[in-house]
Parts: sequence; structure tokens; C-alpha cells
Amino acid sequence: MARSVVVTGGGTGIGLAVARRFAEAGDEVTIVGRRREVLERAATSLGAMVRPLVCDLADADAVASLLKELPDRIDVLVNNAGSREIAPGTGPHGVLARWRGDFERNVLTAVLLTESVRDRLTQGQGRVVTISSIAAVRGADSYGASKAALHAWNHFMAAQLGPHGITANVVAPGTVAGTEFFGDRLDEAELVRRAGRTLVGRVGEPEDVAAAVHFLASPEAGYITGEILHCNGGELLGR
Ligand SMILES: NC(=O)c1ccc[n+]([C@@H]2O[C@H](COP(=O)([O-])OP(=O)(O)OC[C@H]3O[C@@H](n4cnc5c(N)ncnc54)[C@H](OP(=O)(O)O)[C@@H]3O)[C@@H](O)[C@H]2O)c1
Repeated sequence: MARSVVVTGGGTGIGLAVARRFAEAGDEVTIVGRRREVLERAATSLGAMVRPLVCDLADADAVASLLKELPDRIDVLVNNAGSREIAPGTGPHGVLARWRGDFERNVLTAVLLTESVRDRLTQGQGRVVTISSIAAVRGADSYGASKAALHAWNHFMAAQLGPHGITANVVAPGTVAGTEFFGDRLDEAELVRRAGRTLVGRVGEPEDVAAAVHFLASPEAGYITGEILHCNGGELLGR
């Protein structure tokens, strides 16, 4: 039976690869993001089983409206939406804007939606997979701290959802090329430098992360919950 899958940030990069993976498996996929044209282009490329929904997931009013559009049953929720503020804020107001922004972009986008749809997650086999980052364990100012907060929150969600037979896990990618995340900051020299930090001699591709997400969302992964799966080519070991 086709599963009902929601992928946030499913219009680009890692989220698009995740959405493609589920769509190719015959699942019904809803992709959520802020830019309608990006989502519609993605949905068209993925096929008829993919539905685009526009929402700023850091905005509680927008999430409340989104609830009317989302499926009543959600088998898999992938909290992938997130980004990093590039311009560093200085002074108390700049620091506040940067930290608040990173927590809104990376924590609230996952927490607001997951808490809002928790009663729609399929009892006995539901799956929540959240994308954090290698930055959560290596440290990267407010962005790393916001991704680390997802780890702590995931422990809580796993405990909350476990008695209902629903798992909650995190995938923490290292550098992944071919997404909008870095903008133009990931030139050839930087890619080579980052590839050299891994044990496998390359940076990640969106499909690497999609494969990890797809496994954690599979029925076979029902005995894995509250975990953080690092997907970084061996750049960081033993975390
Ligand atoms: N690329 C990497 O090296 C890397 C490494 C570690 C972790 N990550 C994480 O992986 C996830 C995916 O990133 P990516 O690399 O694929 O970059 P990306 O192409 O920029 O994807 C981020 C997606 O999230 C959506 N999004 C952002 N804020 C949103 C909001 N408030 N509401 C709804 N949708 C929102 C964006 O769409 P709209 O702008 O249209 O809303 C976009 O589709 C992020 O959480 C990122 O932190 C990336």
C-alpha cells in the first residue's frame, strides 16, 4: 500500500532527493516550502503522486492553515526544511537576530509541524525523520546550536511517540553539494578541501542523505528510535 509521506523543504536539494526516493517507491508525497514556483516545478518533475503545499513552517499561523491541506494520515514525516544565516550579526541586536533566526529556521520549522500533526502519525508504524547537521556536534555558532537542539528534541519525541509504535530519528549530514544551502560559497577549491576531510574522499550528494532517510522510514527500521545517524563520509568519527 502506498504510504503518505510529508517532506518539508522538498522543493530543492536534499528534500527533493528524499521526495524523489519515496515517489519512486510509489508513495504519495506532499512537499512543503515557501516558494510556490519551486515546489510546483519539483512536483511536476516527480510525477502525479506529489503534491506541493506552500507554507513558512516557522510561522504558527501559516502552519495552522497548512493543517487543513495536509493528509489526515501521515505515515512518514521528514523534517528537512532549514537554512543558515550567512550575514553575521554583531552587537546585541545582530546576535539576537542571528540566533533567533537560526532557531526559527531550523528548530521551529520541525517542532511546529511535528507537534501539530502528531495525532495524524500512523499508530504502530509511523516514522519521523529530522535532518540536523554535522554542525550540531562540531559547533557552528547559532546554526550548530540550533541543529544540536534538534537532537535533544528528538530524544523527547522518541519517548513521546514510542508507546504509539512511532519512531523518531535524526540524520546528520556532512557537506552535501548540489543544493541551495551554500549559495555560491561552495566553489571547486572548497569542494576539494571538504572532500579531503572525509575518509571516502568526496563530499555528499543529496541522494546519500535520501538513502539514510528512506532506511530509517522503512518498516524494517521499527526497532531503531531516538538515534542520530551521521552521514558524513567519515569526516567525524565516534559521535
Ligand atoms: N547541504 C549541506 O551541506 C547540509 C549539511 C548538513 C545539513 N543540511 C541541512 O539539510 C537540510 C536541507 O538543506 P539543503 O542542503 O537541501 O538546502 P536547500 O536546497 O536550501 O533546502 C532547504 C529547503 O528548505 C526550505 N525551507 C527553508 N526554510 C523554510 C521554512 N521556513 N518553511 C518552509 N520551508 C523552508 C527551502 O525552500 P523555500 O526557501 O522555498 O522555503 C528549501 O527547499 C537543511 O535542514 C540543512 O540545514 C545541509
